[in-house]
Amino acid sequence: MMENKDILVDVQGLTHQFPMGKKKSIKAVHHVSFQIRRDEIFSLVGESGSGKSTVARCLMNIYEPTEGTIRYDGINLCDKKEREQHKTRLQRERQIIFQDSASALNQRMKTKDIVAEPLRIQHIFSEKEELDQYVRQQLEMVGLEENYLNRRPSELSGGQRQRIAIARAFGMKPRLLVADEPIASLDVSIQAQVIKLFQHLQEEHDCAILFIAHDLSMVRYLSDRVGVMCKGHLVEMGETEKIFQNPLHSYTKSLLSAIPVPDPALEKKRSSVTYDAASIWNTGIMVEAEEGHWVMQEEADHENLI
Ligand SMILES: Nc1ncnc2c1ncn2[C@@H]1O[C@H](COP(=O)(O)OP(=O)(O)OP(=O)(O)O)[C@@H](O)[C@H]1O
Ligand SMILES: [Mg+2]
Repeated sequence: MMENKDILVDVQGLTHQFPMGKKKSIKAVHHVSFQIRRDEIFSLVGESGSGKSTVARCLMNIYEPTEGTIRYDGINLCDKKEREQHKTRLQRERQIIFQDSASALNQRMKTKDIVAEPLRIQHIFSEKEELDQYVRQQLEMVGLEENYLNRRPSELSGGQRQRIAIARAFGMKPRLLVADEPIASLDVSIQAQVIKLFQHLQEEHDCAILFIAHDLSMVRYLSDRVGVMCKGHLVEMGETEKIFQNPLHSYTKSLLSAIPVPDPALEKKRSSVTYDAASIWNTGIMVEAEEGHWVMQEEADHENLI
């Protein structure tokens, strides 16, 4: 059972549409509801275009939801006044890492200043020495040594720039970290290192993480709970192991059946399940199949009920 005091993020009926011309719009997210506990890693998975990044951006107030509410520690993020009132706190406590964070870095700033900037704005350190040392430490944690401190983003590789973005976000010790495919551009060895940082941040600093990734093995390894998105709908949600061992929605079954198995003999025997996402039939009804494991009813189930 999730108790109210444990909840950091509460998303209710989130809908987001992108206007396309005068009359048309793209419904990227339909009536999605979920919560994130203060101390958990919650992942969103689903095919490309299913609405994961749109949800993430709504949580960071980069997009304004068309409908629904998002509360962060009780603060209504959809209310401009409330947001303004808690501006400093929200800037400090909520951090985001994008897949292409690298391209959003200020090209004119040096690595060390990029990482130090949010810490300076928030006056986290009173001594310059302390700040410098802290910045060095954060960069070292993502595998960037001293000689990168004075370089500018244009003088670094894509993976190195991504690590700067990660160091900058982690350095703030956020209470909510939204990580939208944060490691896709990194080498496998660095990926493992960064994943350890995520775990460390979550365990040591009581941070809630919204994690979005295409690598389902990584999601399984890292997350406490998982939400599955298909065509803008959240179709299933629950504890990670329950979802992976006993997927209930046909879309989740097909998604998980595509994960390669390392054992070639086993891989041969497996049948992959295909799911035509176009056939998703939105009943809008989420049923709690077992405690904490929610699944959206499908057309067939719905007919059985009538
Ligand atoms: N700025 C935008 N303007 C118009 N449509 C958009 C915009 N951003 C996303 N979309 C559309 O909204 C839908 C959801 O996109 P979103 O980026 O949230 O998907 P995603 O699940 O993050 O996909 P991926 O795994 O490829 O990152 C898609 O149909 C996409 O084309
Ligand atoms: Mg995305």
